[in-house]
Amino acid sequence: MAPVVRISDIGQHVGQTVTLHGWIYNRTDKGRLQFIQVRDGSGTIQAVAFKKNMPEAAFDEARRVTQESSVVATGSVREDPRSPTGYELDLSDFAIVQLAQDYPITPKEHGVGFLMEHRHLWLRSARQHAIIRIRATIIRSIRNWLDDHGFTLVDTPILTPSAAEGTTTLFETDYFGTPAYLTQSGQLYNEANIMAFGKVYCFGPTFRAEKSKTRRHLTEFWMVEPEMAFATLEDYMDVAQDMVSTIVQTVLEKHQADLKTVERDTTWLEKVVAPFPRLSYDDAVALLQQNGFPDFPWGEDFGAPHETTISNQYDRPVFVYHYPTHFKAFYMEPVEGRPEVCRSADLLAPEGYGEIIGGGQRMTSLELLEQRIQEHKLPREAYEWYLDLRKYGSVPHSGFGLGIERTVAWVCGLEHVRETIPYPRMLEKIYP
Ligand code: 4AD
Ligand code: MG
Repeated sequence: MAPVVRISDIGQHVGQTVTLHGWIYNRTDKGRLQFIQVRDGSGTIQAVAFKKNMPEAAFDEARRVTQESSVVATGSVREDPRSPTGYELDLSDFAIVQLAQDYPITPKEHGVGFLMEHRHLWLRSARQHAIIRIRATIIRSIRNWLDDHGFTLVDTPILTPSAAEGTTTLFETDYFGTPAYLTQSGQLYNEANIMAFGKVYCFGPTFRAEKSKTRRHLTEFWMVEPEMAFATLEDYMDVAQDMVSTIVQTVLEKHQADLKTVERDTTWLEKVVAPFPRLSYDDAVALLQQNGFPDFPWGEDFGAPHETTISNQYDRPVFVYHYPTHFKAFYMEPVEGRPEVCRSADLLAPEGYGEIIGGGQRMTSLELLEQRIQEHKLPREAYEWYLDLRKYGSVPHSGFGLGIERTVAWVCGLEHVRETIPYPRMLEKIYP
């Protein structure tokens, strides 16, 4: 019996007879010759069924097989420079496991609404497959980078008693009679964890009841959040730029074929090398006023068009730092001598992809933090444990959160974040 191999390893079996377990991507009928695209999750290969080379029953199966039927295909591996993958399979045997009837996603164009309703099947398409593989590499390279740089993975809870990032986007749930919320960020727990571990990260699903429909917002997304004790805003930016350049360079190294499948212009990605430019909020406002937004007032948060204008001035991601305190989260450390701005920074991706990282230096003063909790109308009881951290060995500390879906959208050059996560959750969308 021929060994079962994966298509990604097929190059090691040239001249041998092997068996593939897979699904039919497409088939071209030329009578006594059938050209069958077989995919197995690791790749796609053209299998050629030639009537003369196979038992008659097997050839008949090859001839009636439909798109997305599951199959077992046996044949000998041949190098073929004309094939996009470099190899072809000359079939000697072929069997259908299950014959698919009327697969809804045909090679013709479908609308995004239709494809989203069939997300469970759409994931089989080459483009979606490429995006999710790149996502997996991005996640792996982040974990590797952090693990290699002294960060300990410390998981943070998903069910929480209080808000981390403002009360307007909380998903409330009933926790045995008391309200609880799905986590918006693991940051507050990270701040406790660094006092035990020095440098930590959490990496998990995050929830925001975003009522807006945009290309950048999901209600459930994945965020990696590194946090460091004895670290300033500038230390966070140093770490983030190294991590982000490593992610991008790793994808370039490992995913040339997938980047081609998603039609990504990689010249942009090649420029993503640390250090990244850093621009103060004040200078960013001046830049906007000189570039199409003459009336942009100091003190307002940036929207997508503003972020695009700022990032268009640079060929790589840019940090904007020292934002106005009043529109940032309650825990931000004020800038010394200028409390109207805080030690926060966002990283804006190039090509108009906008904010992919938010972070900053956390407040160390117990008194000021108590005051901020009050000003933000947060229930103090829920934050007693967080205030404890300022009582027992408080230190300057900083951290950030990188959104996986926005990062994948940027690296793959996608219009919308909905294609960057296997099953997107958005306003009015929870199926499948
Ligand atoms: O800027 P945000 O809200 O920062 C925090 O949550 C901090 N507590 C992180 C930290 O310092 N530990 O979110 C961080 C990132 C954003 O830059 C963005 O990439 C992503 O999370 N993000 C979203 N991605 C998709 N859909 C949404 N609704 C998102 N909200 C934030
Ligand atoms: Mg933010």
